[in-house]
Amino acid sequence: MSERRLVRVGSVSELAEDGQRLVAEIDEHEILVLVLGGQRYAIGNICSHDEVWLDDGTLHPESCEIECPMHEGRFDLRTGAATHLPCERPVPSYPVVVDGDDVLVELPPPATGD
Ligand code: FES
Repeated sequence: MSERRLVRVGSVSELAEDGQRLVAEIDEHEILVLVLGGQRYAIGNICSHDEVWLDDGTLHPESCEIECPMHEGRFDLRTGAATHLPCERPVPSYPVVVDGDDVLVELPPPATGD
């Protein structure tokens, strides 16, 4: 049985304006949380093509994508899906929840040991 695990990553005021972004490291997850078109999105911050951070990437509001700063691969912020080569594998995507002034992300259950 899996349990929902909500973790605070910031405040509403830190993630209120389009383009605002922050990075949260929680357990093995490095998560990029950002605002685009008035919506908050959370995806894995490491490009699936190579070990490059996406938080310096360019946002594409028309397609709800972020472009990796290294080789112009792109990811859909809504799903983490890779949408442009050379990226072929998705990055993780995390539901975002607002509770009062807190912005939280929903993480999968912790990995269990062998
Ligand atoms: S490292 Fe991101 S597209 Fe190559």
